[in-house]
Amino acid sequence: MHLPTFAFVLAFAGPILGQQIYDIWSTTWDRSSLFTYTNLSPNPINFGSPGAIGQADIVVTDTSTFQSVWGFGASLTDSSAQILNNLKSKNSNNYWSLLEYLFDPTDGANSAGFSYLRIPLGASDFSANVYSFDDVSGDNALSSFNINRAPSYLFSVLNDIRSINSLLRIHILPWSPPGWMKDSGTMNGGNFLSNYTSVYANYLLKSLQGYKNKGISVYAISIQNEPENSNPTYPTCKISASQEAQIGLALRSLMDSNGFSGTKIIGYDHNWDDAGGYPIQLMQQASSAFAGVSFHCYGGTVSQQDTFHTAYPQKEIYFTECSGTQGSDWWSDIKWYMDNLFIGSIEHNSHNGLMWNLALDGNGSPKLPGTSSCGTPCRPVVTVNSDGSWSVNQEFYSMAQASKAILPRDAGGPWGKRIGVNVGGTLNWGLRVGAYVTGRVNSADWLRYSLVVLNWDDHPDGPWNPTPVQTTIEFRGQQATYTFPVGVTTLWWYAPNEGHSFDDDDGALANATVTFGGNANSAATVAFEHATSAGAAADAEDEDEYGEKMFDGSLYGDVAAQQPLFRFHRQQ
Ligand SMILES: *[C@@H]1O[C@H](CO)[C@@H](O)[C@H](O)[C@H]1NC(C)=O
Ligand SMILES: *[C@@H]1O[C@H](CO)[C@@H](O)[C@H](O)[C@H]1NC(C)=O
Repeated sequence: MHLPTFAFVLAFAGPILGQQIYDIWSTTWDRSSLFTYTNLSPNPINFGSPGAIGQADIVVTDTSTFQSVWGFGASLTDSSAQILNNLKSKNSNNYWSLLEYLFDPTDGANSAGFSYLRIPLGASDFSANVYSFDDVSGDNALSSFNINRAPSYLFSVLNDIRSINSLLRIHILPWSPPGWMKDSGTMNGGNFLSNYTSVYANYLLKSLQGYKNKGISVYAISIQNEPENSNPTYPTCKISASQEAQIGLALRSLMDSNGFSGTKIIGYDHNWDDAGGYPIQLMQQASSAFAGVSFHCYGGTVSQQDTFHTAYPQKEIYFTECSGTQGSDWWSDIKWYMDNLFIGSIEHNSHNGLMWNLALDGNGSPKLPGTSSCGTPCRPVVTVNSDGSWSVNQEFYSMAQASKAILPRDAGGPWGKRIGVNVGGTLNWGLRVGAYVTGRVNSADWLRYSLVVLNWDDHPDGPWNPTPVQTTIEFRGQQATYTFPVGVTTLWWYAPNEGHSFDDDDGALANATVTFGGNANSAATVAFEHATSAGAAADAEDEDEYGEKMFDGSLYGDVAAQQPLFRFHRQQ
């Protein structure tokens, strides 16, 4: 895990440059900006000496770091893959420009950089027909298992996406075990039969092997989508917490002995409202098998994620499904999504944020024939029309604005982490804010500090009256001012590394090298020691918190003047 010490090399020179904001992405309520990039060069917003606070005052506490955020995205259902594959045949230029707009993770690209895909194993309510990878009843040895029972367009589109985004995290899971492992005898509804625990664990292992044989590496697997839901019109299955615990333990052991020890098992994958029930029972019975749990939006409230986090702070949380429905209001949806999911769920410790179908047509189709699911048609992230055109929906704009804040700044670099933030001022209720820091490959490079800001002050005195909020941003004792339009704004600035390690979440610790100015001759080394036990700030996820080891203040003269940029005394 953490190395005990690391070196901190400082080459000191010259005046202190303040932080500056150049980069702004914006989506406004009136759609005058739609994920629109503005570069403020040559007139950036400067951080300077603090003055009076604005109508709202965003206070960024960069000394509080929380979980890494591993991206936004959706489910690549069979239907989504089919509709995208049809687009590829119809108009391949439009297909590739759409995939780039959705998935290119390159810093500065005009793209949302979606980096997390959830993929059904076998049929869901968005498939052409009901199938599993082994529909031969009683085939307990799974000798008829065949990953290619999934339509070929699923893997073809997935590989096209992978060719654009090499950072993609792929999370696979079934909507039902094969029907013959259930009391209903069909994938559509029913209950899992416990005597198939080891057969089903083997089925999931074979699914991982099927992906691996196609050269696709899988980040995470879940046992069952929505294990508390049974519906006779589409693949669903009730699997109790104790059944899922037993399947998870069997699967973990199979994965560890078959080369999948690096792939996570994520439990539950259902609504917020049972956060204190099923997911906690799962951990009580099989904590060693599960890296964490995932939540959906269709029942309960996002703050219920805290019930799980409080009980199992060392376990991960993912937010894996919510769907728009057709006919709802564009701007109302964006407010809800930011508040509850793409700022909110992250604020409540989720590592990601996903919508349901990635792509469908304008009728929310194709769906599984006969399903009652999405009775009011579900709206996908992107609508693809039969004439070969496409358009992105409110789900896209909400996630794109959030995604820009946390994508790795450098190729091979770490993802953004949530940091502390709160909002003061008389109009503090007018803003919802997430704050993030993104580490660098070269630790001498300045960190990126990002804000995602929802201004939802659209009827301050009752009637509709979208009101920009004049806002101050407080950072390391400096202050910047920006007036946020009603909408969602993502902006960032850069600041020196104060000694954090940002090697993502694997616990490895990189050496930090920080240079003041260009005078390499006046380099000095400051050593820090990782706080271990006494007074340690090592947080629940064993992320990056360090205690102070030593600081030779005599080197720097006026240390107080350095405080806004470099603080060696970590707040604990
Ligand atoms: C599991 O139990 C069901 C009846 O509940 C039975 O039909 C089936 O053969 C059993 N399968 C195994 C693998 O034990
Ligand atoms: C950091 O520096 C120390 C001392 O030079 C070295 O032993 C260690 O391997 C380095 N760690 C990394 C992650 O580079």
